[in-house]
Amino acid sequence: MQSVGVIGAGQMGAGIAQVSAQAGYHVLLADVSKERADAGKAGIAAQLARAVSKEKITAEVADQTLARIETIEGPSAMGKCGLIIEAATEREEIKRAIFAEVGKVLGTTAVLASNTSSIPITRLAQATPDPKRFIGVHFFNPVPVMGLIEIIRGLATSDETVTLIETYAAALGKQVVRANDAPGFIVNRILMPMLNEACFALGEGVATIRDIDLACQLGLNHPMGPLTLADFIGLDTCLEITRVLFEGTGDPKFRPAPLLVKYVEAGWYGRKTGRGFYDYSGAEPVPTR
Ligand code: 3HC
Repeated sequence: MQSVGVIGAGQMGAGIAQVSAQAGYHVLLADVSKERADAGKAGIAAQLARAVSKEKITAEVADQTLARIETIEGPSAMGKCGLIIEAATEREEIKRAIFAEVGKVLGTTAVLASNTSSIPITRLAQATPDPKRFIGVHFFNPVPVMGLIEIIRGLATSDETVTLIETYAAALGKQVVRANDAPGFIVNRILMPMLNEACFALGEGVATIRDIDLACQLGLNHPMGPLTLADFIGLDTCLEITRVLFEGTGDPKFRPAPLLVKYVEAGWYGRKTGRGFYDYSGAEPVPTR
C-alpha cells in the first residue's frame, strides 16, 4: 500500500495525515472544500516548522513530508488509495454520507477505516461498501505525540483487514491494542468516567478547578489534570462519549455530570471555543472557578 486517503482535515485528520506522510505514504487529504483541506495542511506545515526549529527533523524532511500531502475536495479522487481513513465530525449521519461517497471509488481490495471514538463499528459497517473491509482505527490527540492506535473490529471485519491496519500502525511507529466493539472501546471506557467524575467533584464543591487538576497531575503523575484534558478533548465530545457509554451499557454509573451538561449547553466546549473550565483568551489558561 502506497497511498492513504484521509477524510476530514480537522485536528485528528490533519494529525493522521501528518504521521502517515512522515511514514512515507502519499496522502490525499480531503475535506468538504479544498480550502478546509488546505487549512489542515497549513496546520501540519506549522507543526513541522516547529519540529525543524527544535532540531527534531531537518528542513528537508519537513519539505518532503509536506510534498507527500495532496489536498482535495471530497473522496472522489481516492480510488487508488489502499487505505481510506474517515476522520470527520463525530456525527453518524455525516459519516454515513461520506461512506456512500467512498463506496463509489473504493478499490476492490482497499480498506475503509473510521477514527470514530464512540459509534459502534458493526452499526457503521452497514453504511459501508464492504463490511469485511471496514474497521475502527482510533487515534489519540495530539496524533503525532500519542503512541497508540486502538483497533476495533466489527462483526464482519476480516482478518486481512486487521493485518493491513497492524502493518500500517507499525509503519507509523504506533503500538496497537485490539478492542471489541463495545461502548467507548478501551481508552474512552476508562478515561471518560474519570473526566466525568472530575466534573461531579467540581459541581459538588469538593475542590476548585486548580486543585482538582493539580491533585491528579502531581498526585497521579498525569500530564494534564482531568479538567484541562476535558477542555483539550472538547467538553461536547466528552459529553457525547459519556452519553454513548450511558446509553450503550444502560449502567447509571456512566450518567453525565450535570455541570458537564450545563457547560455544553452554554457553548463552553473548552479550548476550541476559548472557554471551558478554563478561559483561554489570555496568554495562559485561567481557571474560571
Ligand atoms: N501536535 C504535535 N505535537 C505536539 C502537539 C500537537 N498538537 N502538542 C504538543 N506537541 C509536542 C511538542 O512539540 C513536544 O514535542 P518535543 O518533546 O519533541 O519537543 C511535546 O509534544 C511536549 O509538548 P509541550 O512541551 O508543548 O507540552 P507538554 O509537555 O505539556 O505536553 C501533551 C503536551 C503532549 C499534550 C501532554 O500534556 C499530554 O500528553 N497530555 C495528555 C494528552 C492525552 O491524554 N490525550 C488523549 C486524549 S483522549 C483521545 O484523544 C481520545 C478521543 O477519542 C477523545
